[in-house]
Amino acid sequence: MATEKLTADIYAVGVNDHEIRLFEGQFPVPNGMAYNSYAILDEKVAVLDTVEASFGDEWLANLAAVLGGRPVDYLIVQHMEPDHSANILRFTQAYPQAVVVASQMAFTMMKQFYGADVAPAKLVVKDGSTLALGRHTLRFVTAPMVHWPEVVMTYDAADKLLFSADAFGKFGTTDTQEDWACEARRYYFGIVGKFGAQVQALFKKLDGLELQTICPLHGPVLQSPLADYLRLYGTWSSYGVESEGVVIAYACVYGHTKQAAEELAQKLRAAGCPKVVLTDLVHDELTEAVEDAFRYGKLVLAATTYNTGVFPAMENFIRHLTERGFCKRTVGLVENGSWAPAAAKTMRGLLEGCAELTFTSTTVCIRSALDDNSRAQLDALAKELCE
Ligand code: FEO
Repeated sequence: MATEKLTADIYAVGVNDHEIRLFEGQFPVPNGMAYNSYAILDEKVAVLDTVEASFGDEWLANLAAVLGGRPVDYLIVQHMEPDHSANILRFTQAYPQAVVVASQMAFTMMKQFYGADVAPAKLVVKDGSTLALGRHTLRFVTAPMVHWPEVVMTYDAADKLLFSADAFGKFGTTDTQEDWACEARRYYFGIVGKFGAQVQALFKKLDGLELQTICPLHGPVLQSPLADYLRLYGTWSSYGVESEGVVIAYACVYGHTKQAAEELAQKLRAAGCPKVVLTDLVHDELTEAVEDAFRYGKLVLAATTYNTGVFPAMENFIRHLTERGFCKRTVGLVENGSWAPAAAKTMRGLLEGCAELTFTSTTVCIRSALDDNSRAQLDALAKELCE
């Protein structure tokens, strides 16, 4: 990634990873991933975060290019997950005079990951601690579980800028031209989604701070107007409904449950449903399905019975929802079973701990293949979902 001047003395010095296919071993990233890092060249020089292990050379070269031979006074470590912390040791070897600035818990993790000598000079910061660089006085804002417990974010009142760690990040490199919300939403619900309460708590801390720019550790720097980004994060972290519509997620073996899902989608579209999303949990991308389940207000789960329970792809999908705090939605169930249908009961049981779910009064039961009786149930379900 080329370096970029963001303000009079703040630079982006991170890297783009165009080779990665699976972020954190589970999220497909067709447009790669950015590992951002920033440098503030004030009377004192501060660098915020390092980058993923494979990109140390490129990152140190970027940094050297903007420093123009100046020494670095501080390395601020906002987040210890290795996609950001892996080059701390290389940094402290290259800039041995720099003081490493982080939360106490981050220093504990630093020692665990990289050994006791990784940060020869340390400065522990807490919520509200400040660091004077000259024109900039940085204020640290702890953000536990956004999305690890040691995270601190960094606010700069001089340029009205928030270095937001993982928050407001997205999948995709910074040189990819694509809609921000789509991959930011998938990133949010995939990675941060479980911690909505902690994101809301962070917003309370940030309330009242003037913000013109957000510098996340992934994805593009966000510039004023920030209202749309903040509104979406507010909706996502409160598990609100972002878009009206129905997601039909199906897990099917021989095509009959799929047919029911497709017929339901047709009925909903014919009835004027504003948006119908049909997703095949066996063949489509799971993280997209999870994102959609949190985006829309209504979810239909359609699955075949399997081993007196529910087909594994559906069980896995529901687990991804529940572990991320799925709630506040309308849910309809479609089951298939040739001799002892049990999928609906099993799916409902898997959702038992979710708050504020409203189940439709209609549950569709298919005996092997659609017939007049189950089609009538689909009609009734479609009618309920359109009310
Ligand atoms: Fe991008 Fe939580 O690391």
